[in-house]
Amino acid sequence: MPKKPRGSRPAAVVTGAGRGIGRGIVLALAREGFDVVGIDIVFEPGDRRKGLFEVKERVRELGGRFLPVAGDIARIEDHDRMLDAAAGVCGRIDVLVNNAGVAPAERVGVLETGPASYDRLLSTNARGPFFLSQNAAKRMLAQKPLENGPAPAIVFITSISAAVSSASRAEYCISKAALSMAATVFADALAAKGIGVYEVRPGIIATDMTAGVKKRYDRLIAEGLVPQGRWGRPEDVGRAVAALARGDFAFSTGAVIEVSGGMNVRRL
Ligand SMILES: NC(=O)c1ccc[n+]([C@@H]2O[C@H](COP(=O)([O-])OP(=O)(O)OC[C@H]3O[C@@H](n4cnc5c(N)ncnc54)[C@H](O)[C@@H]3O)[C@@H](O)[C@H]2O)c1
Repeated sequence: MPKKPRGSRPAAVVTGAGRGIGRGIVLALAREGFDVVGIDIVFEPGDRRKGLFEVKERVRELGGRFLPVAGDIARIEDHDRMLDAAAGVCGRIDVLVNNAGVAPAERVGVLETGPASYDRLLSTNARGPFFLSQNAAKRMLAQKPLENGPAPAIVFITSISAAVSSASRAEYCISKAALSMAATVFADALAAKGIGVYEVRPGIIATDMTAGVKKRYDRLIAEGLVPQGRWGRPEDVGRAVAALARGDFAFSTGAVIEVSGGMNVRRL
């Protein structure tokens, strides 16, 4: 079947798309028929085994379209370039998924947290996505709605750490709590304007970010930390985001969706 022309299909922008959860989200959105623009700070066009260009190959196999864009979401002065590239190629932006995020380089007690790590985490995990969402929302409001397409949406990938303390990575928890409130404020401000805003809180997901603490989490999961008894996978998060993006939660703006195998269940 010939592909529909650009601008007539819904388009999604996913940050941190080169691996892990972002990659899982891209593949889920591509399966839903979205053109996807993947932004990542790592940009290696020569490498098709990993990163954005591996993701591009996988999307191509699914019959979809994927545009890799180099960019650091912490650099607000660069946001226009990234979103111009997305809108230029896709003709529109219907969905923004704020997924890119970083963990502290080193886990230290809250009494040892340094200002450089604090600033890095807040800048990438909270400040960058706030201004990227502001920029994308203005573009969504200025464009014509897509005929028969899903309503525009912004998704924030926070973490269970938005509400659960880890005293050895205070700056991560604080950055995710800030991002969670950003989702709430955007949901409030954009509800009447037709843009749905959602927060997705992953639990313990098997990616490069958690590779260094795998043994510890293997043990904790075996001991029952996760009610559903397994690691989460990027595709678990991808499926949740795809449901939000295609409009299954159209009357639920501001919703917080945990993808954590039941870690939100309080237990005695
Ligand atoms: N893995 C987990 O258990 C888990 C749990 C809860 C929340 N999260 C959140 O999910 C998101 C994705 O996590 P992941 O586990 O896939 O991480 P990851 O480290 O495996 O992948 C993150 C991707 O984002 C990119 N990136 C990092 N900084 C960037 C920047 N400034 N600009 C653009 N791209 C950037 C990286 O290059 C990488 O491709 C993060 O926000 C993370 O905090 C992860």
